[in-house]
Amino acid sequence: MTSNGNLRHIEDNAIALLRGNRRSGHSDLHRLDYSYTCPSPGRYPYQWFWDSCFHAITLSHFDPEWAQKELLSLVAVQREDGFLPHVIFWQAGSVHHYWKYLQAAGALRPKWTAYIQPPVLAIAALRVFQSTRDYEFAREIFPAVRRFHEWLRLNRDPDGDGLISIVSPFESGMDWSPQFDSLFRGGFSARWHGPRLLDVRHRLAGHKTLSMLHRFDVEEVATNSIWYEAQRSLAELARETLDEEASTREEKEAARTQAAILTDCWDPEAGAFFSLVNTEQRLRRRTVASVIPLLLDDLSPEQLAALVDEIQHPLGFGTQFPLPSVAVREDSFQARPGIFLWRGAAWMNMNWLVVRGLLRHGLTELAQKLAETSADAIHRSGFRECYQPYDGEGMGAQDFGWSTLIVDMLRLTR
Ligand code: GLC
Repeated sequence: MTSNGNLRHIEDNAIALLRGNRRSGHSDLHRLDYSYTCPSPGRYPYQWFWDSCFHAITLSHFDPEWAQKELLSLVAVQREDGFLPHVIFWQAGSVHHYWKYLQAAGALRPKWTAYIQPPVLAIAALRVFQSTRDYEFAREIFPAVRRFHEWLRLNRDPDGDGLISIVSPFESGMDWSPQFDSLFRGGFSARWHGPRLLDVRHRLAGHKTLSMLHRFDVEEVATNSIWYEAQRSLAELARETLDEEASTREEKEAARTQAAILTDCWDPEAGAFFSLVNTEQRLRRRTVASVIPLLLDDLSPEQLAALVDEIQHPLGFGTQFPLPSVAVREDSFQARPGIFLWRGAAWMNMNWLVVRGLLRHGLTELAQKLAETSADAIHRSGFRECYQPYDGEGMGAQDFGWSTLIVDMLRLTR
């Protein structure tokens, strides 16, 4: 077990990192003040949606005030209809870094990307509220999260089955996950440019509804497991703010999402959960997304056993430094994936979601083990974007914000 001294060491470094990545000021472009933590100063200078939510969860332990600001900055740019973007560009003229492939995009002075990211906001908002019991914050954040949830239901669930669709791999937050390979024809160039061009297409379509213009429409299994958890969290936050009606609605919708994952995404033959394309066919690739349904409360004993087996299996996700983002037995698995992210390396936000799921099912020892092996990778390589799943070598961006979720994982499992 991580000793008290080692825990202190990790926590001190986590605080220092989050302070170092802090950005605040006034944006002329948005005519708003902002305060956020950038994911990594060199590679990811902007405010990213789910990164900010994860940062807020770590910050809720040390600096809840900053955690509140981080989330309030995120919702400050909310569009009238409830949409919240995946990346916010607070400063004009800096976007070339994101749209390297499209120099001209800078001239359009975009304020954000036209994408969403997995809806972790309600989960973070509830955690931050719970650490402070600050009702003023709850009343401020609640309407924004609620409007975002309504936007998702209205715009991203065209078949009304309780599962939301993503319109690009980038929206899953797992950019080049092999889950989506079969949806992109062609080689390197199609894979590299495909998701970015979809952004432009989506923007031109007004990103209101899913339409014929969207080539990509996936009910992604991790996104929807998070969606279930988010609706449950918002129901709880609604109870705190005494909005019984909203609480009942979120609970009911969460139940629909859960039922749809349990029946439609579950593949009884494979004994695994998979994402669905718009034709309701399953994308049968075992990636870390397949184990995120651990967040669901009503897994059958068979489903729970399959997930628990898979995260420990040496050909599944049971490597020395888990969880690889692709199961080892998949042809597409690469321990050192190069520029295409999410094709094998381990990511701390996924470990955090799985730890949370394991604890929900009372699997404390397994949760503890995952938190400990995650801490080993961090001891070895520091806070990196992702980790080689056999030797724990750090890869990708340096000083990476959400890897500080290790603090929460260790505290939850002690
Ligand atoms: C990478 C990740 C994405 C994350 C972003 C900023 O693109 O795939 O999930 O939000 O970096 O950290």
